[in-house]
Amino acid sequence: MSQGTRLQGKVAIVTGGGSGFGAAIARRFGEEGAKVIVTDINVEGGEGVAALNPSNLIFQRMDVTQEDDWKAVLELAFSKFGRLDALVNNAGTTYRNKPTAEVTDAEWERVFNVNVKSIYLATKTVMPRFIEQGSGGSVINISSTGASRPRPGLVWYNASKGAVSNATKGLAAEYGPHNIRVNSVAPLLSGTGLFSMFTGMEDTPENREKFIGNVPLGRLTEADDIANMCLYLASDEGRFINGTEMVVDGGKCV
Ligand SMILES: NC(=O)c1ccc[n+]([C@@H]2O[C@H](COP(=O)([O-])OP(=O)(O)OC[C@H]3O[C@@H](n4cnc5c(N)ncnc54)[C@H](O)[C@@H]3O)[C@@H](O)[C@H]2O)c1
Repeated sequence: MSQGTRLQGKVAIVTGGGSGFGAAIARRFGEEGAKVIVTDINVEGGEGVAALNPSNLIFQRMDVTQEDDWKAVLELAFSKFGRLDALVNNAGTTYRNKPTAEVTDAEWERVFNVNVKSIYLATKTVMPRFIEQGSGGSVINISSTGASRPRPGLVWYNASKGAVSNATKGLAAEYGPHNIRVNSVAPLLSGTGLFSMFTGMEDTPENREKFIGNVPLGRLTEADDIANMCLYLASDEGRFINGTEMVVDGGKCV
């Protein structure tokens, strides 16, 4: 485990920290000295991530669509660590890529609840505490390249990420005067289990090759690519970055 001090003295909440990008974000933040509350509905995954670095990471079960869960995790941050400096709204979900007219009400609602309502609830609960604390904060919303480059078959997922990216800019403008920075990170497709969900294709070497052919840097996103961008935005190095969408895509969307 590499050790650094880029987040020394800071306290962070990472939602959806039990797997994928969120797990890498929590791990990197912990490696750089932050105290991190890893939250997820997946208890086994979240506890497993926290166990990798027990001195800096703790797990709390949290459903990002539930306001009471937001209140509880915020209380934990202040009761256990006395402050909060960074929030990464990473938890997200999709339905499998398919003709858009076939998307069900339940799929539409789940996507908008987990991807968008979560940020609405986070704003309601966390922003007043950041303002009260008086030392600013960094909110990082994980969006997608699909927010600005939607492709067929994932229309409502991409629209939900469009809302994430748009809300990020509005929140940045509104809360900037309190030194609360709000930015989004837009990952390209990664090689996780969601490959089939996002592309609607089987996860085979041939299908990956088709996708990678359009990426100038010649690969899919790795979790640490996203974790390192979030680390920068949460650290004081990013102190003048506000309302920006950081595209992490190897040049795919140029
Ligand atoms: N993987 C990709 O290709 C990709 C590309 C662009 C953007 N993203 C975005 O990155 C983020 C992380 O995705 P990932 O690829 O690591 O996926 P993942 O499925 O590995 O991780 C998402 C985590 O969120 C958790 N989660 C789901 N619903 C939740 C809820 N209601 N409350 C709390 N936690 C919940 C899941 O249990 C899971 O641990 C998501 O916002 C996703 O939309 C992913």
